Amino acid sequence: MLPSLLEAKKRTNNEVKNYKYTRCNDYNNIGINKKYYIKTYGCQMNVHDSENIKALLEEMSFSETDSMEDADLIILNTCAIRENAHNKVFGFLGRVKHLKETKPDIITGICGCMAQEENVVSEIKNKYKWVDIVFGTHNLSELPRILNDSIKNNKQEIEVLSIEGDIIEDIPVKRDSKYKAWVNIMYGCDKFCTYCIVPYTRGKQRSRNPKDIIREVEKLVQDGYKEVTLLGQNVNAYGKDLDLNYYMGDLLKDVAETGIARVRFVTSHPWDFTDDMINIIKEYDNVMPYIHLPLQSGSDRILKLMGRRYTKESYLELFNKLKTIPNVSITTDIIVGFPGETEEDFEETLDVVNKCKYDSAFTFIFSPRDGTPAAKMKDDVTLTTKNERLQRLNELVNKYASLNNQKYLNKIVDVLIEDRSNKDGCLMGYTDTMKLVNVKCDDSYLGKLVKVKITDIKTWSLDGELAE
Ligand code: 5AD
Ligand code: SF4
Repeated sequence: MLPSLLEAKKRTNNEVKNYKYTRCNDYNNIGINKKYYIKTYGCQMNVHDSENIKALLEEMSFSETDSMEDADLIILNTCAIRENAHNKVFGFLGRVKHLKETKPDIITGICGCMAQEENVVSEIKNKYKWVDIVFGTHNLSELPRILNDSIKNNKQEIEVLSIEGDIIEDIPVKRDSKYKAWVNIMYGCDKFCTYCIVPYTRGKQRSRNPKDIIREVEKLVQDGYKEVTLLGQNVNAYGKDLDLNYYMGDLLKDVAETGIARVRFVTSHPWDFTDDMINIIKEYDNVMPYIHLPLQSGSDRILKLMGRRYTKESYLELFNKLKTIPNVSITTDIIVGFPGETEEDFEETLDVVNKCKYDSAFTFIFSPRDGTPAAKMKDDVTLTTKNERLQRLNELVNKYASLNNQKYLNKIVDVLIEDRSNKDGCLMGYTDTMKLVNVKCDDSYLGKLVKVKITDIKTWSLDGELAE
């Protein structure tokens, strides 16, 4: 089965089926004495999918290695959002090919968003015949069977579904952290912003049933997890595709009431942010005051061409409402060099950055994605201008990131200590507002929520020591 962008564009009214993953024991021994290496590109959704892939492989008796050279099975979980993500994957494939020349038995698999792209799959089919399996974002749980088929038939197996439909509960998961967990609350996106490939690669919006989400979070609480991040391409639209009269505000409240120490959520589209959500964030101390609110552009003309459904004015209105949440930190995504963006358009973007003074921002140069409407728009902005705009924007973003961090000096903040740090004698974690802090303490603090006094400020991180 090959992917088709035309098919992927269709939004059917077919009912979304929910069913449970069932393990097939026929594959239990395939990976005995074999190691897998998985490389993950892109967003948290992919990181979490990789946690599922790891568990599926371990059910087949494979064990994990962090060295590609030691691996018998190499999986690339790919991202399609911009061209450089694409190029990185093809670059990495070159390295895998080299390795395969010395170890011909290595099995190679490609999955994730690039596997949902027609042109990528035809390239793999024609030029990368040595890649053994390709599977998409909609049939990840079928990896054991696809892998088994490829080994048994000794041929390239490509299985990518273009029209999604199902939500599969209870896919096994091997979480990277013992303290914080990703929890999908929905799949896909129906917004079709004109530059974005996601509605094609991830399919139509499908919200998980609230009961299944709460059950998952309750289990995480029992297992000692301190933080969950509710994941979706556009979490604020949660529930709009269900017939339950139950939306993101309701879900946030019920997740907060499980008693988990911290609740986060990404990503928010400004269009669907409700007052109810804002009230819940204010009301529940365990819902973190951190919001990622992509702007993309500050120009009404460009926002319209992007299909973003808001104006500069309505974005700023929402932003100001969010600012009434005590101690809130807000970050954003911005694209420069969208087709036809003029200096005036770009200055509108700078104006919003000057008004919002974001805690941080991810900034990108527009990258045309095959099959999206923006890829067909006339793009007369030169690369030099795009680079120059990106640089000007980054200077402004960095100025505000640094200014925002200054406010933390000598303050006492809550940090969930989650890992060792690159800084000697320190562990690292995040504040409730998502600031990275290097804390002077020993390993006994791993997994603990502690009070930290901030002693030094860097542009992208804070240094601190235990305050109690
Ligand atoms: N070109 C550049 N940036 C993009 N993004 C999404 N699609 C593109 C594209 N074609 C950015 C948006 C989005 C973030 C995840 O990636 O800013 O919010
Ligand atoms: Fe892409 Fe827009 Fe959906 Fe975000 S909301 S995933 S930018 S289409």
